[in-house]
This record gives sequence, structure tokens and C-alpha cells, in this order.
Amino acid sequence: MKRKHGRIYQIYHVNAFEWLAKRNEASIHAVVTDPPYGIVEYTPEQLSKRRNGNGGIWRLPQNYDGHKRSPMPRFTVLTPADHLRIREFHKRLAPLLYKVLVPGGHVVLSSQNLLSHLVIDEFVSAGFEMRGQVARIVKTLRGGDRPKGAHKKYANISVSPRSCWEPWLIFRKPCQGLVRENLFRWGTGALRRESEHKPFSDLIQSSPARGQERRLASHPSLKPQAFIRQIVHAVLPLRTGIILDPFMGSGSTIAAAAACGLCSIGLEVNPLYFKLANRSIPALAQYTPSKVNGNEARPKRRHEIVGYHTNNFPLTKRTKVKSAILHFPL
Ligand SMILES: C[S@@+](CC[C@H](N)C(=O)[O-])C[C@H]1O[C@@H](n2cnc3c(N)ncnc32)[C@H](O)[C@@H]1O
Repeated sequence: MKRKHGRIYQIYHVNAFEWLAKRNEASIHAVVTDPPYGIVEYTPEQLSKRRNGNGGIWRLPQNYDGHKRSPMPRFTVLTPADHLRIREFHKRLAPLLYKVLVPGGHVVLSSQNLLSHLVIDEFVSAGFEMRGQVARIVKTLRGGDRPKGAHKKYANISVSPRSCWEPWLIFRKPCQGLVRENLFRWGTGALRRESEHKPFSDLIQSSPARGQERRLASHPSLKPQAFIRQIVHAVLPLRTGIILDPFMGSGSTIAAAAACGLCSIGLEVNPLYFKLANRSIPALAQYTPSKVNGNEARPKRRHEIVGYHTNNFPLTKRTKVKSAILHFPL
């Protein structure tokens, strides 16, 4: 994507599968995404149950300290048929991503400890190399519960471990030739270091997006800028090419790419989330993460974000966003 007329990102209100099927081969350089883990949680039926507090996959975590909790998808309620649907989703997705990626292109995809084996299986079957996982250290209020209906009797028992980290799976489309040859030809095949002396690392401390950041983008699965900027920074080793987020939600990946001065494309099927992304991307791109709870960012210098553009949707407009702070050295 050229930075023609100052555009650094494009977002589309579209079904990702349809868009990917039409997209040219070898035209995307990296994918960073947070897909619907359990596939069902973003269906209109489940979203309406979430709104009405009415069962379904969205459950309120156990309230052990008096704080108000937001509902979160509970993956232990998924049935074998749901697992099959998760497989089918990724069986469709992985070959489409393989097609649109250039050789050496990375996919970094958020996952979930109870489901990641299904995703890995389908991506490896599609031809991707498994290149590791980033452990995002985050307490999500999942797991650690005492047996239901017998909390007192089994006061020293947890049914499952208390979840303290979230896996982000790393895949790569095989390189053409050696990594250095692939870097030269396609600009991909490797990960950008945090600095000359510090490689990108697979352990990142990152608490959930809260406070002002959440007010800027009220999506139930909002990913924090301090985390996602580290990922987008890593996936374009030479800082050239396009990052795709096929399930962008409120657009946190697109905002992170814009904040880092990288080109990106975002897709979202839900009209309400697409509208939200239209507003929240420029706001999140300018947002400066605080230093609390591991959401540490290291502002380096000011940079102008050069605007955005949407199509396939009546909200078409362009906005100029000024003076976002870059958090990583260029
Ligand atoms: C886990 S959320 C992503 C949230 C995002 N990381 C953020 O920070 O806002 C997944 C998103 O994928 C969208 N989605 C689900 N199926 C889709 C499809 N087939 N095409 C495009 N978007 C889809 C859902 O509406 C949801 O907003």
C-alpha cells in the first residue's frame, strides 16, 4: 500500500472470508489478529444474550472481591460440536491467509489455552510453520474456581488453574530460499528486534485495557495498545508492507500499526463494531499507555499519523490525526 494521499490504513465493513477469497495472492506481509476464539461468542444470538445477561457463552466471572465484573466468554461450556466448528473456522481461515501472505509472512494470532491446539493443528495442516508463542501475562479471571455448589466443602480445591497468561500463536509462511534472500525479495521472514541489542521476546507483561483506553473503544475484547504495538512492531522486519487484521473489532491492531507508522488493513463484519472502529482507531492511535500494571510504554518521539479512509460503508470519511506518540524506535 502506498501512502497515497496520506492514507496509512484502510478498514472495510465486510465478512473476512469473502474479502480474503477475492484478495490477490502474495499481497499481505503479516497478519495480526484476535479472532473470535470460540467462534460462537460474536454471533448475533450470543451478543444479545450478553446484552440481556441471559446465559449463553458470556458469563460473569465469580465475584470474590465485591467488584463489578464484565461478562467474558466461558470456553469450558463449549461442546464437542463447538470444537468442531472452531476447527472448521480455522480450516477455512488458514489456507486463505496462506494465499494472501507473501513468503515469509508471519501470522500472530491471539488464542486461548483450552482451544489453541485446535488452531495450531489447522494452521500447520495448511502449510504454516509454527514459530512459537508469545505468552501475554494477563490475569483474565478465568479458572481457579472452586467446585460449583460445594465451595465450602471443598474450600481448598480449584477445578482448573487460575489463568495468568494468554497464548499468542506465531506462524510463518515458509520463506523462499534463505531468510536473508526472503528479506531481500519480500521484506519478510524474520521479526524486527526491539532494538539492535534486544530481540523481540516471547514473554510480555500486559494487563487488560482499562480506564481511558476502554472508554475510547468499548469492545468486549479490546486489546491494549501497549501490548499490540509490540506485536505489530515485530511483524514487519523492514517496516515495509501491509499488516492485515481480518477480525479487527474496534481496530486496536490498526491503531497500533498507525501509531508505529506502519500500513494496515482492518476487516469487521459487525456494523456496530465497524462504526466503533471508525471512531476509535484515530483515538487509540494517539493514546499514550500508562506505566501501570505492566502496560508500560516507552515514548520515543512524536510522529504524525497521516489519516485514514474507509469504503464499503456509508460512513466514508477521512480524518487527519496529528501527533501520535511512537512507542518504539524506528
Ligand atoms: C475478539 S474480537 C476482536 C477485538 C479486537 N482485538 C479489539 O481490540 O477490539 C473479534 C471480532 O471479529 C469479528 N468477526 C467475527 N467473524 C467475522 C468475520 N467473518 N469477518 C469479519 N469480522 C468478524 C467480531 O464481530 C469481533 O468484533
